[in-house]
Amino acid sequence: MCGIIGYVGKEDAVSIIVEGLKKLEYRGYDSAGIAVYGASGFFDVVKQKGRLASLEAGLADNPLTACIGIGHTRWATHGEPSDINSHPHVGNQSKVAVVHNGIIENYKQLKENLEHSGIVFSSQTDSEVIAQLAEHYYNGDIMETVIKISGRLEGSYALGIMCVDEPDMLVAVKKDSPLIIGVSKNGNFIASDVPAVLKHTNEVYYLEDREIAVLTKDSVQFYDMDKQPIQKTPETITWSFDSAEKGGYEHFMLKEIMEQPKVLRDTINSATVSGECKENIENLDISRFNKIVITACGSAYNAGVVAKYVFEQLCRLSVEVELASEFRYKDAIIDSKTLVILISQSGETADTIAAMREAKSKGAFTLAIVNVVGSTIAKESDLCLYTAAGPEIAVATTKAFSTQLAILYALAVRFATSLGKLSSETENELLCEIKALPEKVTEILKHIDSIQKVASSYVGYKSIFFIGRNIDYAIALEGSLKLKEISYIHSEAYAGGELKHGTISLIEENTLVVAIANCERLYGKIMSNVEQVASRGASVLLIGSCKNDEPDERVSSIVLPDVHELFSPSLSVVALQLLSYYVAANKGLDIDKPRNLAKSVTVE
Ligand code: G6P
Repeated sequence: MCGIIGYVGKEDAVSIIVEGLKKLEYRGYDSAGIAVYGASGFFDVVKQKGRLASLEAGLADNPLTACIGIGHTRWATHGEPSDINSHPHVGNQSKVAVVHNGIIENYKQLKENLEHSGIVFSSQTDSEVIAQLAEHYYNGDIMETVIKISGRLEGSYALGIMCVDEPDMLVAVKKDSPLIIGVSKNGNFIASDVPAVLKHTNEVYYLEDREIAVLTKDSVQFYDMDKQPIQKTPETITWSFDSAEKGGYEHFMLKEIMEQPKVLRDTINSATVSGECKENIENLDISRFNKIVITACGSAYNAGVVAKYVFEQLCRLSVEVELASEFRYKDAIIDSKTLVILISQSGETADTIAAMREAKSKGAFTLAIVNVVGSTIAKESDLCLYTAAGPEIAVATTKAFSTQLAILYALAVRFATSLGKLSSETENELLCEIKALPEKVTEILKHIDSIQKVASSYVGYKSIFFIGRNIDYAIALEGSLKLKEISYIHSEAYAGGELKHGTISLIEENTLVVAIANCERLYGKIMSNVEQVASRGASVLLIGSCKNDEPDERVSSIVLPDVHELFSPSLSVVALQLLSYYVAANKGLDIDKPRNLAKSVTVE
């Protein structure tokens, strides 16, 4: 995690870096800092524990002027959030300044060696070792120094480096952490992600592992570890700058919830009707696989749990869903007859990348569903389908999750058809249902006020349980995760039938049970669970398309449009997102940046 940015050009580096950091704050926000090379002839560094606002206050007290600099927003891994542990880190000789995203796994050993040669460290971070090591090796050639330190560092890193002897030059290098290079006529950029530079340019290069970028105000050159120049081709980003702005909403999360009809439509069109995805996917012969394994983290994992129900129902093919952090170490039973589906908004989640590599090493075919173009998973997987969610800034995912579901539905229908499990009539019916989803989501968003009103009555609850059966259980997992992420209310999700095996002992007055009910054939079963918890004093909120014919004053309802049971998670999730959003908003919490979390988890 952590976000890094650097700029060298004709404009004010400080404001460009601070603005860029604002776009990267989703990657971490416990401290931030900036180093510039200004008129003093030395590095000027301001770094501060806390949100970017603290850094901005620090810069107001200590204004900096420069045309070259690097900045960092941190999600602490080694060393608590503090001023001293914030980046940039500068070596003891004040020659080299570094910002780092990643984890240096052998930092203790490197640090000990450097300490033996008399170097005194000031922070508890793994990152400081990079600055100190760079100075230790520095012989007047900063690129050679970068090559040397790359040979010593183990773990993951994206680095932005400045050297006092090269006051017009930024150097960048990466391994297993993302880094892009943006180019414009007014200057050049390094950044962890595209939104940080979108205001200035949509021409970017994706740096590959162990490639070095050397930037000046009017040139960008790439080298390999033998100092040989490399030719790279820039890519043009189609995301607009506005898509990474709040557009009048109080929070990115609400804006992103409201964007769902559009991004669903975009994704469904590209996945089922035309475009590159269709051509690639058409070459995939699903009959060569005897099982599907879906692996991912967080909400993307929950999308996988939903997909298991859909694939198994439509394709009659066995599907396993694994947390990527578990899959990578379990010596999974997979081979060339296994289709491994990886789901990731960022395409950079460390555990999902490791799971992908593990799957590939065992000969499985890897199909990725990714939002960020050019990300590691997108590039390394055998086949990648892009969700068309656009930039997602709020840490809690909403629109990316919805587009993941849409692609998974379309895939399931495609696979089922090619396996001969669907008549063309049923295939058409299912595709029509999928294409109707954006309209139905719009319908839910029209009733946002009533969901807000319902949510405002749940702010004081200490525990909120989510229950459902079958595919409603799958989406209950996401509802619970969303709520706990942003509202800090304890929450768990259970299969309705499992309540009686323990969890029901937690049900008492002042607990809320959110019951999801879209499965008509299981409606009676979930209502029995509702009765069981209501009679023990819980409040109940029923969400779904199944109508509650016997009004009960203990039960509130959010009624959703009718939809095919298999695709109902796409509607339930919108109500669940809004429920979480308004509970958190009523508590006055920092919804886009929940405590302790980061959007892109690029460390283990
Ligand atoms: C983090 C985010 C989650 C996300 C998960 C996986 O934990 O907070 O919202 O679902 O990472 O991220 P990915 O980018 O792989 O979808």
